[in-house]
Amino acid sequence: MLDRFNRKINYLRISVTDRCNLRCVYCMPDKGVKLLRHEEILSFEEISQVVKTGISLGIDKVRLTGGEPLVRKEITELVYMLSKIRGIKDFAMTTNGTFLEKFAQPLADAGLQRINISLDTLKPEIYKKITRCGDITNVFKGIEAANKAELLPIKINCVVKHSSIEEDAQQVAEFCKKNNLQVRFIHEMNLEKGNFSKVEGGDGGDCKICNRLRLTADGKIKPCLFNNLEFDIKDLGIEEAYKRAIESKPESGTINNYNKFSNIGG
Ligand code: 5AD
Ligand code: SF4
Repeated sequence: MLDRFNRKINYLRISVTDRCNLRCVYCMPDKGVKLLRHEEILSFEEISQVVKTGISLGIDKVRLTGGEPLVRKEITELVYMLSKIRGIKDFAMTTNGTFLEKFAQPLADAGLQRINISLDTLKPEIYKKITRCGDITNVFKGIEAANKAELLPIKINCVVKHSSIEEDAQQVAEFCKKNNLQVRFIHEMNLEKGNFSKVEGGDGGDCKICNRLRLTADGKIKPCLFNNLEFDIKDLGIEEAYKRAIESKPESGTINNYNKFSNIGG
């Protein structure tokens, strides 16, 4: 479907959980994260239905995000269910990579095509600081497993404070070059302040070509990351929620003080 600004909307990003095993400083507070109750979270059947309806409206690209998608129970089962739906041309996941060593092959077997992995630094102690608790060796093992499972091309999401010439970013870029990984530099954003910019090496953050909708873990379709608008599939029905989201997709982002990255998936 086209929106009011003639943008073809074909990409749905699905947050399958608002939970995460890490606590990245730019994403979540250290403690006291308000989490959705289990009853509020969409079931796999509901998510599948949202995808099917989306396909009938022109969606052909789907990404699973979180929180951390691999902490959702039986996630490979959801991947399998979605991979069986006809009409998805591009089926990917964004993960912090810490559980990928175990999940890469099962995900590939279930029909996932490719994967994006977050990595902001190569230094174990800086990684621990950024994630507040993460062990970087798990990410390296995860990347290796993703390669083996051929979840290709592997893209690395690298959040930078100001620019990609920062030392940590440069080291990540070098690592990616050596290991045949595509790197994308994402400038640290602030939803409430409306701070966002184009992703270097990707399409995100460029309002003129934005083809995205987002589904929150509790069933709201959001037309824009930097806007409070959301349409609840449980109140409106799936098709109506889509239609309203597409009709009201703003020309460009402003601010979002309803959501956090952890429930909208970046
Ligand atoms: N600014 C930019 N990117 C962010 N992410 C999470 N929070 C932010 C933020 N404040 C990114 C993560 C990951 C993806 C899920 O979203 O780095 O790559
Ligand atoms: Fe978890 Fe990703 Fe948020 Fe970090 S950025 S806390 S890995 S959801």
